[in-house]
Amino acid sequence: MWNDDVEISLCRPTEPMDGFYRNGEGDEVVFVHEGSGTFETIFGDLPYTPGDYVVVPRGTTYRVVAEGPQRHVVFGSPGLIEIPSRYRNEYGQLLEHAPYYTRDIHPPTKLHTHRDRDDHVLTIRVKDGHQRYVLDYHPFDVVGWDGYVYPWTFSIHDFEPITGRIHMPPPSHQTFQGRNFVICSFCPRKLDFDPLAIPIPYHHSNLNSEEMIYYVDGNFSSRKGIEVGSVTLHPSGIPHGPHPGLAERSLGMTETHELAVMCDTFHPLRLTKLAHELDDGKYAYSWNERGSADENPLGVTSHL
Ligand SMILES: [Fe+2]
Repeated sequence: MWNDDVEISLCRPTEPMDGFYRNGEGDEVVFVHEGSGTFETIFGDLPYTPGDYVVVPRGTTYRVVAEGPQRHVVFGSPGLIEIPSRYRNEYGQLLEHAPYYTRDIHPPTKLHTHRDRDDHVLTIRVKDGHQRYVLDYHPFDVVGWDGYVYPWTFSIHDFEPITGRIHMPPPSHQTFQGRNFVICSFCPRKLDFDPLAIPIPYHHSNLNSEEMIYYVDGNFSSRKGIEVGSVTLHPSGIPHGPHPGLAERSLGMTETHELAVMCDTFHPLRLTKLAHELDDGKYAYSWNERGSADENPLGVTSHL
């Protein structure tokens, strides 16, 4: 899916990465659903494990060395992908109410200086395409660096959920801000604790916003057709909310074990031909069926 602000891709590599890559015109965030390995970068090695967001600023030359099967959700943007402004003070320090903190940000661990003079292929994303350069030296011919721009990882498991007496709308889940989009993390948490709370989202219309959700882990059995690795897309402007009967069945629930990543975009998303082919065509009609009473409402508390 894509628009002028963000591209959202799924990556399930079948072969090792050949050569090096640099996004010359945008920032990238890679959410690692499955797999571990290392982003070898010009700033040093950046190890990753499942649940990590790998944040790669534009201009970073890197190569992904994967260990075992991988499943990634990749966000790329010509705008900046940043820590939300409202989590930071005027000096850029994370504030105490932010759902993550400086200690959760992991920069590259070790810088390797390469001196090899040999052919190295570097693919650069630029001007809506890719250009291929063959360097006669290793691109990591670097002895050190300083400054504030470098790749880093943040684990979704370190996101401290914000909960409330009644339903907390999606900004409480925000993890990154982009140009006309946000990335949010839905993590295991206690649910709304008012004795009269209905602990799942209210029906709403997402005016001026598209909602893409990627389901990472948890029990989504009550959302028909949803399983781990599923993607849903709610086009903007359409009323939606819990499936019929779910609000009643959620009464008394105290916690959710869901794990999901959401990207809300403020301009419409377009689908690639492949994305169109992957659409099962049933999701929009799933509100038309009443679920059976034994369905477990746990895991359905994502922003719907
Ligand atoms: Fe929504």
